[in-house]
Amino acid sequence: NGKYTVTFIEGDGIGPEISKSVKQIFAAADAPIDWEPVDVTPVSSDGPTAIPDEAIQSVRRNLVALKGPLATPVGEGHVSLNLTLRRTFNLFANVRPCRSLKGYKTPYDNVDTVLIRENTEGEYSGIEHIVVDGVVQCIKLITREASERVLRFAFQYAQSIGKPRVRVVHKATIMKMSDGLFLTTAQNVAKEFPDIEFDSELLDNTCLKMVTDPTPYNDIVMVMPNLYGDILSDMCAGLIGGLGLTPSGNIGDECSIFEAVHGSAPDIAGKNLANPTALLLSSVMMLQHMGLNSHAERIHRAILQTIAEGKTLTGDLHGNAKTDEYTNAIVEKL
Ligand code: IPM
Ligand code: MN
Repeated sequence: NGKYTVTFIEGDGIGPEISKSVKQIFAAADAPIDWEPVDVTPVSSDGPTAIPDEAIQSVRRNLVALKGPLATPVGEGHVSLNLTLRRTFNLFANVRPCRSLKGYKTPYDNVDTVLIRENTEGEYSGIEHIVVDGVVQCIKLITREASERVLRFAFQYAQSIGKPRVRVVHKATIMKMSDGLFLTTAQNVAKEFPDIEFDSELLDNTCLKMVTDPTPYNDIVMVMPNLYGDILSDMCAGLIGGLGLTPSGNIGDECSIFEAVHGSAPDIAGKNLANPTALLLSSVMMLQHMGLNSHAERIHRAILQTIAEGKTLTGDLHGNAKTDEYTNAIVEKL
């Protein structure tokens, strides 16, 4: 029937409300997507987390998934399902764009940055152990293989979106061997892409410069090890108005999962207060990834217009619209 089936992991907390918003907007835009909802409630509650087989088969079959937030326990309990999903499907590149939204004023204008986060290793490898009581070791794993594939992805991505430069963000002054390997691998991969400029910058300096003036970063695709990408992408979100606004794509060779960068926000869950924009923009990235550019464009424009008008904004953007009112305002533009 000319339709694509996409796995939908609605997630915890505000997940179901913001997912509903996406479904309504896709229906209004006649997007040729059939959603296949799956449940990923962990199979075991401590120790290694298993994702239900049905969910895994669904993603493998459809190759594309949209995902809401999954709650992650702090300090104890199961391994984050978010990470388990990234690992299970080898989603090695996490693409995190961040663009100023017209109509929502922050101290920064014209932000248009993108960072690529290595998504499978680093401190997120989950290798931690107690040496003796009071002494814990956490292993930051960096391999040439994983570094090379995410770096190559970053250069190809820069080519595909027409940004002239790739910049590695690192701390190889301190982590001389691990970040050093990431950096030297980048220098080698850069030789395969003579048309793309390449340089590197220390993470602390990147933060300082970006909060001073982010616009020089608009011409750069930043790429970095896992934890740095986690932290820097939240900082970038702060430049444009917060985590309610920033999408992401977890890209692998076979499957891809698109998800909002924010958490499950249990404090406002079920209250019709959540901002669905981050998940909506993730769904726009998903459509672009699938080559459904005209649908992506239509939905994107309706979201941007609604925010630009500034009449129907959710609480995180200092408006007083409910989730469904904001959603309806977007639907009216389709
Ligand atoms: C993100 C999130 C996740 C992460 C959490 C929910 C495990 O913060 O996608 O940035 O740390 O990667
Ligand atoms: Mn994060």
